[in-house]
Amino acid sequence: MTDASEFTFIARTDEVEAGYALQVAVDGREPVAVVRLDDGFYVMDDTCTHGAASMSEGEVIGCEIECPFHSGRFDVRTGAVTAFPCTKALKVYPVKVEGDQVFAALGAGTCADDATTG
Ligand code: FES
Repeated sequence: MTDASEFTFIARTDEVEAGYALQVAVDGREPVAVVRLDDGFYVMDDTCTHGAASMSEGEVIGCEIECPFHSGRFDVRTGAVTAFPCTKALKVYPVKVEGDQVFAALGAGTCADDATTG
């Protein structure tokens, strides 16, 4: 059973190159993507909300990640949609860095859609 506050090892910091997303396979669930921006590491679902694309194969542009299939975009920090044709946010996860290791609370993901009303 997964505790929402439980952190899962995602990657070593030196495995995540700035400006690129790294796909990480996680036991028992869909893979996640980890992105390194100037202000830290961000972990999100790797599968686009518009189709079966791997976001980690897309391009990181500033603080956005672009889907390789139809060029929909999301804000890496919040998962919010920033470009059509995506309309549903990506789920993002709380991250902590300890030493040279990146962890994410995969039971505590949030979706920018959850915060919007109407
Ligand atoms: S599958 Fe990602 S934008 Fe269409």
